[in-house]
Amino acid sequence: MRLKDKVCVITGAGKGIGRKGAELFAKEGAFVYILEFDDVSGQDAENTIRAAGGKAKFLKCDVSSYESVKAAFDVIAEENDGMMDVMYNNASVYLAGKDGILTEIAPETWQKVLGINLNSIFNCCHFAIPMMQKRGKGAIINTASSAGVIGIPKCDAYTATKGATVSLTRSLAVEYGKYGIRTNCIAPAAIATDMVKQSNPDGPDFDAFTFINLRTPLRRWGTPEEVASLALFLASDDSTYVNGSIITADGGITICGDLAKPVEGK
Ligand SMILES: NC(=O)c1ccc[n+]([C@@H]2O[C@H](COP(=O)([O-])OP(=O)(O)OC[C@H]3O[C@@H](n4cnc5c(N)ncnc54)[C@H](O)[C@@H]3O)[C@@H](O)[C@H]2O)c1
Repeated sequence: MRLKDKVCVITGAGKGIGRKGAELFAKEGAFVYILEFDDVSGQDAENTIRAAGGKAKFLKCDVSSYESVKAAFDVIAEENDGMMDVMYNNASVYLAGKDGILTEIAPETWQKVLGINLNSIFNCCHFAIPMMQKRGKGAIINTASSAGVIGIPKCDAYTATKGATVSLTRSLAVEYGKYGIRTNCIAPAAIATDMVKQSNPDGPDFDAFTFINLRTPLRRWGTPEEVASLALFLASDDSTYVNGSIITADGGITICGDLAKPVEGK
């Protein structure tokens, strides 16, 4: 029970990595607030956690909207005496077919990606940090990507948000460390989720010997559970001296440096 009675907020926890994070955090004793845009998956996440004996509440929320985030945090603050422990910023979009090279991105696509992937961190932290200061400590976990660590072509809006997430993580770590608030960042890649399926127009075959299987030193896709366990480490007292770190969860694919190269024959 590494998060016993901790108040944790996870964005985009209806499916994918955030969903597995919510389930794991609840299993470890946390009360998990699921801030999710999608009604069906958000409610299903709450139901699944409760059915397993965990504590969770789905709050429908568009994390790109300051007003929507404020409404969610009004509830969280009211229910927890204005205090909380863990802010896990996970929600993002990758707008395949719309994101691309800068000169071909429509301004509305650029704004949408920045709104969901980056402004969401501002919106949530704006409310979460004062609640952690009142508690006297806290943990913020941001989510970047290999795209925030190395150059990846044809998704310039996405990479801009992920690079900014890395930088903001470091700033927050420096600024709020004195309040006992640790800020760290996970940089995943090659995790088998809907986001990856949607970002590959050909549709990756997670089992076949395809793009990722060829490129990843571990020769396989990662699972959302493998990222969730890293988030648990960063949320828990197992990482009390870890602050300002950018930790990849990518099977080593980022250090290969050839994510951008086409696979022979493709
Ligand atoms: N899967 C990967 O290989 C990979 C690689 C690099 C980075 N990441 C990052 O990991 C995180 C999780 O990715 P995933 O693969 O689980 O994605 P996913 O698409 O499976 O899940 C994203 C979740 O965010 C929610 N969401 C989207 N817009 C929202 C909004 N405006 N408000 C609230 N919720 C919203 C979605 O409904 C969904 O439940 C993201 O930050 C992503 O950029 C993933």
